Amino acid sequence: MINPTIDQIYQHASVRSYKTDPIPPEMVETIVAAAQRSSTSSNLQMYSVVVVTGAAKRERLAELCGNQKHIAQAPVFMAWCADLNRLERIAQWRDYQQVSEYVENFLLAAVDTVILMQTATLAAESLGLGMCYIGGIRNHPQDIINLLNLPHLVFPIAGMTLGWPARPHLPRPKLPTRAILYWETYDTTGDEEAWQEYDTTMIETGIYRGRQVAVPGQEGEMEAYGWTEHSARRVSQPHRVILREVLEKQGFLLK
Ligand SMILES: Cc1cc2nc3c(=O)[nH]c(=O)nc-3n(C[C@H](O)[C@H](O)[C@H](O)COP(=O)(O)O)c2cc1C
Repeated sequence: MINPTIDQIYQHASVRSYKTDPIPPEMVETIVAAAQRSSTSSNLQMYSVVVVTGAAKRERLAELCGNQKHIAQAPVFMAWCADLNRLERIAQWRDYQQVSEYVENFLLAAVDTVILMQTATLAAESLGLGMCYIGGIRNHPQDIINLLNLPHLVFPIAGMTLGWPARPHLPRPKLPTRAILYWETYDTTGDEEAWQEYDTTMIETGIYRGRQVAVPGQEGEMEAYGWTEHSARRVSQPHRVILREVLEKQGFLLK
């Protein structure tokens, strides 16, 4: 079943090489206004986005986000932030005290922000723009908070590069849908077969070219490295372990 919207969704590919051409500010506004049409918990709209276009600041952001060159290259960087600061001020303005110290409060704002930014992605891609999320924004969150002047109860969930793709980007295959879609109950029968199928697909794309892994039980034997090996290695390492500390400093106490 395919229609123009689904077709556009299927064309998504993270873009990491951009032309230097700028994006008109009205286009950025159109994208953010479209994103605002997204559902949001109780219509509370617990998010903000900081758009950075200045080259020097993008260079600094590129460094802070793990020396990712596409951040300096893309004409626009967007910092998508969970924001309970606005409601804090609104509650005070109306003579109430906002409750913000529970995990639920952070989760509400984070979920709202993620939905907002993915709608922005679809809007941007429909205009021919390319984008790439930047989780690296959480590598040095306190420096990002200082650089963007993020107040109490505002936290950067993800960054995004936005610009005109320098070349066509191929969509990256995903797991067979049966590996993530369960009907009625969570039933993992057949998962391993689906994972193997996906490993083969991903090896064929050449994404992991040159990477090999030892064949279990066969000394000295090596075989091509696929998505399961790549992902298992990735999740076996801790990442961004200081987040809780910075979240607490920003006022998200996660009780
Ligand atoms: C929350 C999030 C953070 C990400 N962070 C980065 C990042 O810091 N740098 C990067 O180059 N890609 C980043 N990505 C892009 C993913 O690597 C990419 O979406 C994934 O490999 C799938 O590829 P696709 O988007 O082309 O389908 C991120 C994606 C998400 C959803």
